[in-house]
Amino acid sequence: MRRYLFTNDKVRDEGETYDVVIVGGGLAGLYCALNIDPKHSVAIISKGGIDSGSSWLAQGGIAAVTQETDSFEAHIQDTLMAGAGHCDKKAVEVLVREGPEVINDVIRLGVQFDKDEDGNIIVTREGGHCCRRILHCGGDATGRVMTKTLGEVASGRENISVFFNTFLVDILTDKNGAIGVVVNDGDEDRVIYSRNIVIATGSIGQLYKFSTNPKGTTGDGIAACMRAGAVCKDMEFVQFHPTALAVGVEDGKMFLISEAVRGEGAVLRNKSGEAFMYNKHSLRDLAPRDIVTREILKNMMKTGDDCVYLDVSDMDEEFFAKRFPTIFEKCRSLGINVPKDSIPVHPTEHYLMGGVRTDLHARTTVSGLYACGEVACTGVQGANRLASNSTLECLVFGRRAALKINGDFRKNDGYKFEMPRSEEFDDVCPPDSEIDDDIAYMKSLMTEYVGAIRHTSSLEYTHRELDRIYDKYRKRRLENIKEYTVFNAAVASTVIAESACKRKESIGSHYIVD
Ligand code: SIN
Repeated sequence: MRRYLFTNDKVRDEGETYDVVIVGGGLAGLYCALNIDPKHSVAIISKGGIDSGSSWLAQGGIAAVTQETDSFEAHIQDTLMAGAGHCDKKAVEVLVREGPEVINDVIRLGVQFDKDEDGNIIVTREGGHCCRRILHCGGDATGRVMTKTLGEVASGRENISVFFNTFLVDILTDKNGAIGVVVNDGDEDRVIYSRNIVIATGSIGQLYKFSTNPKGTTGDGIAACMRAGAVCKDMEFVQFHPTALAVGVEDGKMFLISEAVRGEGAVLRNKSGEAFMYNKHSLRDLAPRDIVTREILKNMMKTGDDCVYLDVSDMDEEFFAKRFPTIFEKCRSLGINVPKDSIPVHPTEHYLMGGVRTDLHARTTVSGLYACGEVACTGVQGANRLASNSTLECLVFGRRAALKINGDFRKNDGYKFEMPRSEEFDDVCPPDSEIDDDIAYMKSLMTEYVGAIRHTSSLEYTHRELDRIYDKYRKRRLENIKEYTVFNAAVASTVIAESACKRKESIGSHYIVD
């Protein structure tokens, strides 16, 4: 019998039913909802508010071929190159070729990309791109503007209901695949039936001590899909963004200094002022992210410093403040007088290339269960994601999931789920303080040993330790969100470490020194 997290006698089941349930209120989930045939009822379940996911924080922009000087071939080539030869070429073709279409569609829905004085959309450059092709909104507030706009459209649609602050506990399955979810809104676990379920829950950043990802990114979607029988892929490929702000860290959440800042001419320097990317790659500071990250870490190891510096002094103040208003405000609030002062930065966890394996229509290996956005592994990101391809992936594959659901719609038939018996889990969870200690320990293992530079022996040690913690919770009775979260975190961390152990060669973001 498969494992469910909830305790059967505590779940409320009043037959609440939607045609489609989408878990995740970021770009992938929202755009998927907007593409579902309006005759179908849709529930969007979001762990926090509209501003709580990673989409909201996306600064740089969205990559797409919109300029005459650019081409699909060039975008495909850059994606494959950054992905270190590990991408699924068919998925990359889909991503790139459908890019302009989804861009036009979100413009139609109200998204305003930044324009020059003549009304032309402005594009910028980021790491790994051979030319300027990144569209942006509000300077460096692309994710915020897009998520807010799509969220407003969704909340005006009669067929869409949004449930904020609602946690995904489990995906219910029977022999025919997905049949619903159990969610918890803080008070109780309750069943929502649906035979068309989309998981768009984002990622795993908070499995690390430091990440650019928000608080809720604890691998819940991945763990729930795995319990439902879905297959995961490429979990060892974790991307570390080269330039997180090295000061003002709040609760493990690091503020991002967008790669677009380098796209506009900023240069990385070490404490001695040396522009150390100069001889390291033909794209210098705009080399793919994994390469820049490793060069920064090597520099920090060599010099013993705990950061490097982003020299932005070539930009004038007016330009910087207008082009990067969020970054400007944040730096100034911390006493960094940009653009005169350099910005102290160091690499931090940013994105998971792997995830729940999906096909070109966002289908997982479980019937009726779809995944899109960061939680999914479509194959487009390979072993190292090209900058600003993730926002595009959210739209392209969010829409593909919706179109497939519209075409292959699975009807609800009033079926009532028989709750599994749970008496085999008699042991209760340890006290909260012990759970906190376990979470802190898992984060320190992930940070220390499953980072941007890895060693075989410490990966193996980490895997054993994480597996031990997973085992501790595996047969326990879990009764609240905190207990569900530690279990999910143990599952997701263990799978990442296990996959990292299995891959013996360095490729893209998985870099082993021994
Ligand atoms: C950034 O603005 O540097 C982040 C963009 C991304 O992660 O693709």
